[in-house]
Amino acid sequence: MKINIAIDGPSAAGKSTIADLVAKKLGYTHLDTGAMYRAVAYSALNKNIPFEDEEKIVEMIHEMDLDMLPDGRVILDKEDISEKIRENEISMGASNVSKLEGCRKALVEMQQKICANGGYILDGRDIGTVVLKDAPVKLYMTASAESRAQRRVLQNMEKGIEADYQAILEDIIKRDYQDMHREFSPLTKAEDAIEIDTSNESLSQTFERVMKIIKEKLGE
Ligand code: DC
Repeated sequence: MKINIAIDGPSAAGKSTIADLVAKKLGYTHLDTGAMYRAVAYSALNKNIPFEDEEKIVEMIHEMDLDMLPDGRVILDKEDISEKIRENEISMGASNVSKLEGCRKALVEMQQKICANGGYILDGRDIGTVVLKDAPVKLYMTASAESRAQRRVLQNMEKGIEADYQAILEDIIKRDYQDMHREFSPLTKAEDAIEIDTSNESLSQTFERVMKIIKEKLGE
């Protein structure tokens, strides 16, 4: 039987990349829950709904036709917004809408429905603490803000996107603070999560370590 796996941690800690690799290796599906908050921010911005207008945002979410495809693409009202939601303005917007209790409730419900039959790896901020409280494998991936900023710079450069280390670092620190200090489901390590600090590791070292933990947990 396929289980569900939870990965939490601050932004740019490598959660999504690791979740993709693990999903491929195990034949699971990766659900990037951050992309769902990003889609909400993107839609609110397009509809001129302020990020703090909880009532309108929740109404909008219920009308949204959001498709989280198994290959990672994000389709909103038939439009592929996978690239657009990676822009800086949307990152901060996602962090802002994620403060709203009603927004969280609606997205958590969608996430739990998607992975109800197992075989999913979810990455986010509240997976081990709220969405998948009973997940048999919970990881908390972290790294220093400096090494996360450095990695983001390299990623952006590879994609040909402008990369200012100082601006990226400041954005990461600000988002960490917001995500960890919000009132509802702030980012925190679940009691039964295994912490993985990736500051001084390569991607393949982290992947090996994560696979070992998962195999041990699954009793393989
Ligand atoms: O993982 P990400 O950077 O794409 O997430 C964008 C924002 O969404 C992040 O700043 C906080 C929020 N988020 C959340 O509150 N809960 C989640 N499960 C995933 C993301």
